Amino acid sequence: MKKALITGINGQDGSYLSEYLLGLGYEVHGILRRHSVTENQNSRLVKHSVDDRIKTYYGDLTDHLSLTRIINQVMPDEIYNLGAMSHVRVSFDMPAFTIQTNALGVLNMLETYRMFCPHAKFYQASSSEMFGNSVDDDGVQRLSTPMNPVSPYGCSKVLAYNLVRHYRQAYGLHACNGILFNHESPRRGSNFVTNKVVKGAVSIKKGLADKLELGNMDSYRDWGHSKDYVRAMHMIINHDTPEEFIVATGETHSVRDLCDKVFSKLDLDYRKYVTQNKKYMRPEELKYLKGDASKAKNILGWNPEYTFDTMIDEMILRWENEL
Ligand code: NAP
Ligand code: GDD
Repeated sequence: MKKALITGINGQDGSYLSEYLLGLGYEVHGILRRHSVTENQNSRLVKHSVDDRIKTYYGDLTDHLSLTRIINQVMPDEIYNLGAMSHVRVSFDMPAFTIQTNALGVLNMLETYRMFCPHAKFYQASSSEMFGNSVDDDGVQRLSTPMNPVSPYGCSKVLAYNLVRHYRQAYGLHACNGILFNHESPRRGSNFVTNKVVKGAVSIKKGLADKLELGNMDSYRDWGHSKDYVRAMHMIINHDTPEEFIVATGETHSVRDLCDKVFSKLDLDYRKYVTQNKKYMRPEELKYLKGDASKAKNILGWNPEYTFDTMIDEMILRWENEL
């Protein structure tokens, strides 16, 4: 039985990845952060009934000693480093914590991995936010597109990405980067735009709210489903050679299109309810993302199962049941 260790196991991707690996027969171990409300620290795992099949450990990416203890205890075959301060807007408010967790935290993981279980495979959750506003002439970001990050979050992920490549080259480790474009699901935090719009629209439909405040509605994102993307993580880490892969749908929609789509599905006109509030604007905005996942498709045989529409339908259903 293979052993996987997941950081950020209680996050959106961590919870789906745990389920996926349990289904493949893996023994799954994960790192949790202590939270003063105990129920919050493993809420996604409990909600989706995988908590009793996972072994969890208190730790933090910024606490090198905790990582040393956990890696020595588990001795994993595969390490998925998904833990991060993952909210781009919040990274402008907490740049130091973002860099400490997303960049120095990765360095802590890589050093511990190199020293104590160098035979394991290592996956790093890299991000399309690393490209910033670089786009190739044909309107696509690919592996050769220059990285020009436009947020503390993007900067932290570029440093982590380069550290992973450096550790692979310098020490011969099986360490790889998945550059994943935005991916969503009913488990997405409701302060990310897709789930915020879906929750807001369903609340309005049910008479629980009368408006939805957003920031920039003219940015474009390439949105896929987390469930499809965690399958890609497993394929990337298990590819014969450790490499970089992009995971994306190749489709792009504006935040305005997203609002139109979600509200229309509920027979509402978004223009009557959505207003803009400066507080949700970013000091620097990433305007447009559309990824080229041809390497993952051709070499790994990865393909998404969800479409933009089926993903939104699933998210609407969550809030219809919950509100
Ligand atoms: P998420 O839902 O925000 O989950 C992040 C997880 O990291 C949470 O469980 C969080 O713990 C944990 N964490 C935060 N700070 C930590 C620290 N200092 N030490 C240990 N754990 C810490 O994010 P996600 O959507 O699942 O994304 C997973 C990873 O993929 C992240 O690295 C993200 O940056 C990256 N990524 C995401 C996307 C996307 O569109 N979703 C795209 C590209 C890359 P708590 O549960 O205690 O808060
Ligand atoms: N969160 C949020 N809230 N975003 C808003 C809002 C709002 O009220 N109004 C407009 N937006 C716009 C943002 O300015 C951005 O252009 C777009 O919606 C998407 O924002 P998010 O959903 O917060 O995602 P993100 O693209 O900034 O970051 C996500 O994707 C990255 C990959 O490209 C996160 O999951 C990152 O962790 C991930 O790396």
